[in-house]
Amino acid sequence: MAFEPLFGENKIFYGADYNPEQWLDYPEILEKDIELMKKAHCNIMSVGIFSWSKLEPQEGVYDFSWLDKVLDRLNEAGVKVFLATPSGARPTWMSHKYPEVLRVWDNQMRAMHGGRHNHCNSSPIYREFTRKIDTELAKRYSNHPAVIGWHISNELQGSCHCPLCKANFRKWMQKKYQTLENLNKAYWSTFWSHTYTSWEEIDPPATMGEMGVHALNLDWKRFNTELSMDFCKHEIDTVKAVNPNLPCTANFMEYFNDYDYFNYAKIIDFVSWDSYPEWHVYKDQERTPIYTAMNHDLMRNYKHGKPWVLMESTPTCTNWRGTSKLKKPQMNTLGALQAVAHGADNVQYFQWRKSRGSSEKFHGAFVDHVGHLDTRAGREEIELGNKLSKLGEVAGSLVNAKVAIVFDQENRWAIDDAQGPCNNGMKYLEVCQDYYKALWKKGVNVDAIDETCDLSKYDVVIAPMTYMIRGDYAKRVEEFVKNGGTYVSSFWSGIVNETDLCFLGGFPGPLSNVLGIWDEEIECLEEDETVKVQSLCDALGFNSCFEGSHLCALIHAKEAQVLAKYDSDFFKGMAATTVNNYGKGKAYYVASRMDDNFIEKLVASILDEKGIKGPIDNLPLAVSCHTRYNDKSEFLFVGNYSDTAVDVMLKETYEDLLNGGNVSSQLHLEPYASYVLKKDL
Ligand code: GLA
Ligand code: ZN
Repeated sequence: MAFEPLFGENKIFYGADYNPEQWLDYPEILEKDIELMKKAHCNIMSVGIFSWSKLEPQEGVYDFSWLDKVLDRLNEAGVKVFLATPSGARPTWMSHKYPEVLRVWDNQMRAMHGGRHNHCNSSPIYREFTRKIDTELAKRYSNHPAVIGWHISNELQGSCHCPLCKANFRKWMQKKYQTLENLNKAYWSTFWSHTYTSWEEIDPPATMGEMGVHALNLDWKRFNTELSMDFCKHEIDTVKAVNPNLPCTANFMEYFNDYDYFNYAKIIDFVSWDSYPEWHVYKDQERTPIYTAMNHDLMRNYKHGKPWVLMESTPTCTNWRGTSKLKKPQMNTLGALQAVAHGADNVQYFQWRKSRGSSEKFHGAFVDHVGHLDTRAGREEIELGNKLSKLGEVAGSLVNAKVAIVFDQENRWAIDDAQGPCNNGMKYLEVCQDYYKALWKKGVNVDAIDETCDLSKYDVVIAPMTYMIRGDYAKRVEEFVKNGGTYVSSFWSGIVNETDLCFLGGFPGPLSNVLGIWDEEIECLEEDETVKVQSLCDALGFNSCFEGSHLCALIHAKEAQVLAKYDSDFFKGMAATTVNNYGKGKAYYVASRMDDNFIEKLVASILDEKGIKGPIDNLPLAVSCHTRYNDKSEFLFVGNYSDTAVDVMLKETYEDLLNGGNVSSQLHLEPYASYVLKKDL
């Protein structure tokens, strides 16, 4: 991938969702907005996200006069624009006249008008209304000098159970399975006599109907991903018909569970997402930054490493959590620079100006109700704008990761749905984060990928709980290890195929050869229950006692060598961790949810063996260290997420891009401080 800034300019863009349609009766405020944007070094705004009722106040009657003025004014001020298609919320007149545009819930009731993000993705009428308004917008603005991209709809989500969507679902299944016999076999539908005898008998999963056919549940999620993609693509095609060169995005969400974003991202030109981490809540101060960092790494990899856009965040607080915690001084800056460290070329907020009324009037915004920026948050926003303006050369740089962690959305759906060893929560994300945390602590870059991604470019792939093996994944794992890669697997791997049918002949199914084990049974522990695990002298390079929790696979090492054994319960003496030499590489299997200490040691010994090192040794846990690079330089991002000052030791001399001058050896970090350092390559 070339080092290309997302929007052709060497700058980190800074801005917000700008909703001037709320303020058309306040011309002085619209004037003031521009003045404040300049003051805060803002150079991008996402405009028109929820403007449909102002753009088309009556059916077929369009009014673009206000938007003309807004875009011209932004352009004069040097502010670029992501122009939104307004389909995230529709005008009231439309829902009333054409109820078909509204969703039907899984209880078969059609929604009334209200809320947002709740249109039917199949409705030809809704598609036609979107086509018309999008075409008008594209004709008028897609060659406007301020507009640099399309923000398609908003946070596309959910599903609809109307007759049109059901019919589309049946068509989708027919295409996938060809015959009912194939479908019935794939669904194991003889169980409970659920065999289908015609396509029309197939209803989507619903609480009042079928919920127990897991393959049906999975297909419904896959179908809805593709139906939403199809709706989004319909909008993309509409605007691109006018100007094919304007790039399009759809703003994604946190570890979003409705759709598979690795699939979704295929239809957009660049990834953007809305990130609202829960800062200052947990005692373990590293928890939120680690959780967020892995999400950033996923976002970057939806487009295989390309820089992305932080489309929304808040400078202060959200208003939709139990407690609306303020960001402490410098936290906003630290959170913004965290996104940049993981590949963002933009930092943007929801929203520019706090609404005066309605449901988000107390959600943090760039400009508060007071109307100026001489506030605690405002002063930091201006300072951040100033800092970002010094990072132009970072735009377009990439993240070089030698380690990948696999977090697969289809696998997640399947794990969470199966009634199995632990119905109190299978903790897939948490287990992935156990390993991510150990990598974070080493200060190494990580790509978060899924089972469909290329493994061959990594030295180490860590893939806990790959319950579902999709496509040729197992084959690619074998290739990867054969060629010298190190692969780490865990309990609850290699259990089912893509339609949730268990592999026969012993788990971990198609991973058995590469892992060299047989997974015979799995024990689930109570929430507070642990088992002892003893590592074997020399085998792991460390010899001591550890604890396993959550789930314990009871495995037999076949070709694999035993590295640690259970030391309690009836399975005392059985293998708890193994390694299999396979071709030129190694495949590890960790049979239980091991404690942090064990995972850290295991990860450290693997990184050591592979010669993978972060730029800073002995990082305190709540300090982050990540890098981006281009053909000339490496950029080192260091941040302190704790409420106490710490020092870290640099191994080289760097230029301090935010504060000027050089730094070497000791770097002092005040609470929530962040640094962006540069060295030439
Ligand atoms: C989402 C939406 C925004 C706003 C924010 C509030 O990200 O896209 O319109 O509602 O949440 O956090
Ligand atoms: Zn529908």
